[in-house]
Amino acid sequence: MKHLIIYSHLNPASFTKAIVDVVAQKATAQGEEVRIIDLYSDKFNPVLEMPDIEFMFMGKEIPNDVAHYQEMITWADHLTIVYPMWWAQMPAMLKGFIDRVFSHGFAFQITENGPVGLLKGKTAQVYMNTNHPSEYYAETLMHKAQLRVIEQGVFEFCGIQTETTFFGNVISGTDELRKSYLESIK
Ligand SMILES: Cc1cc2nc3c(=O)[nH]c(=O)nc-3n(C[C@H](O)[C@H](O)[C@H](O)COP(=O)(O)O)c2cc1C
Repeated sequence: MKHLIIYSHLNPASFTKAIVDVVAQKATAQGEEVRIIDLYSDKFNPVLEMPDIEFMFMGKEIPNDVAHYQEMITWADHLTIVYPMWWAQMPAMLKGFIDRVFSHGFAFQITENGPVGLLKGKTAQVYMNTNHPSEYYAETLMHKAQLRVIEQGVFEFCGIQTETTFFGNVISGTDELRKSYLESIK
């Protein structure tokens, strides 16, 4: 299996990066081919600009960075996406990656019968870290809101079958809690 890990974090000592390391180790041990997109190290430009729109809708040339990341997504059978919740949403860096890379004509197509996902057959696992407790976010439907956005609104919209795991109390919790989260991935 070809496994692409995409993550958004500025800090190599973050829990997000710890998850990435565990997922990569496990996948490699299972004989999967693993590639990693570290959006901060790549200095990805998350701002959708005119050349992106000209590429998507006006038949102009694809921006080089977008072409590079689309090739990686085409290559992958499975995506793992890891990020912290910031202000009840994904970080702007990841949002910009989706805006620019999951483009019309590549990830989805608008047809007379409505939108069609073009990335069918791929699967995704999302890991989202929060500092609020998971119980609180489950009760207040924040988790449901996240699933609506990230699964229904983004990956499944593109035809990618997606599962999401939430890790709560990531800052306030104990080392044992964080270790148990990493163990649950292993
Ligand atoms: C700008 C910013 C906004 C945040 N917003 C939220 C939030 O809305 N809900 C929440 O539970 N935690 C929030 N947090 C806490 C992060 O989710 C927490 O730092 C992260 O899950 C810890 O994992 P990490 O080590 O991978 O960053 C926020 C943190 C930052 C820096």
